[in-house]
Amino acid sequence: MPQITVIEHLLYHQKESPMATGRFTRLLSEMILSGKIINQEVNKAGLVEILGLTGETNIQGEKVRKLDEFANQVLVHRLQQAGVLCALASEENADLILVPEDCPRGDYIIIFDPLDGSSNIDANVSIGTIFSIFRRISTGEEPVTLNDVLQKGARQVAAGYIIYGSSTMLVYTTGNGVHGFTLDPSVGEFLLSHPDIKIPERGKIYSVNEGYWHYWDQATRNAVDYFKNPDNDSKRVYRSRYIGSLVADFHRNLLYGGIFLYPADTKDPACSHGKLRLMCEANPLAMIVEQAGGMATDGINRILDLQPKELHERVPLVIGSKLDVLQVEKFMRAGA
Ligand code: AHG
Ligand code: MN
Ligand code: MN
Ligand code: MN
Repeated sequence: MPQITVIEHLLYHQKESPMATGRFTRLLSEMILSGKIINQEVNKAGLVEILGLTGETNIQGEKVRKLDEFANQVLVHRLQQAGVLCALASEENADLILVPEDCPRGDYIIIFDPLDGSSNIDANVSIGTIFSIFRRISTGEEPVTLNDVLQKGARQVAAGYIIYGSSTMLVYTTGNGVHGFTLDPSVGEFLLSHPDIKIPERGKIYSVNEGYWHYWDQATRNAVDYFKNPDNDSKRVYRSRYIGSLVADFHRNLLYGGIFLYPADTKDPACSHGKLRLMCEANPLAMIVEQAGGMATDGINRILDLQPKELHERVPLVIGSKLDVLQVEKFMRAGA
């Protein structure tokens, strides 16, 4: 009988991790429960009145979808119940979400993208939840401020994502490797299915929205061109794969090897750094990919070293197999 490890068991016995305190386990347990609740709705999205748009526009200037809002409400409510947070931040909320007075609190801060890949919901394409966990900087007596939240990604104490795909998986790290758990719907438990994930040093897949070619600078075009026609003498061929859900593109590249790029572009003057958010998308995935032996940059600089200035700031993202990310860095440093 194969060894079956339920996630709570691993969390409880993760002695080597400084995060194995009961308080952290409590927080991750609420994230797990939230993932199960969201997964239920995602799985029957076509049957209940939960597809389509709410008619609202979020702080990102994006049309909010009903499942975005549902996932956000589930996460805010459940995570506040964990009793170990002093603040939350969501892609869907303009400002910090403080823990209500009547909820017990603690020193952790969680930042999340409640539903990544929203544009794909109605087409039944994989989507996900991404989360990033910090400890507050100020001491317990002072009120929590944005300064507690705007920390470099290197200070994350944990990061992870849940992908609602052909199966539902939770992938997370507390700085001791990356572990993947698959939801067994028959028992309603996340079971360890991918212990200690490592990303191949070089991949055979590149993921980028080539529809924006005319909005990229020359260095970016040179970098993307490389993956169409790598070192001429080698017989290496890269495949282009782009789902349009960051969490799904990232997860495939993490397991198979490959590189994902969302470069800076001039398509929207309001965000010349591309579309992806540093705090709730780039930072958590950068922690995961580094723990799996990969790399994550903004084209040149390590994502985890970037000092955030705003909660929803955007950042160009180049993430995946180390040698592929270094290849892009060469082109970005060389310029046009
Ligand atoms: P979200 O649904 O959380 O707003 O994120 C969508 C992001 C990301 O999932 C994906 O990689 C990217 O949008 C796709 O953007 P384009 O359609 O511009 O390629
Ligand atoms: Mn969005
Ligand atoms: Mn997203
Ligand atoms: Mn989102």
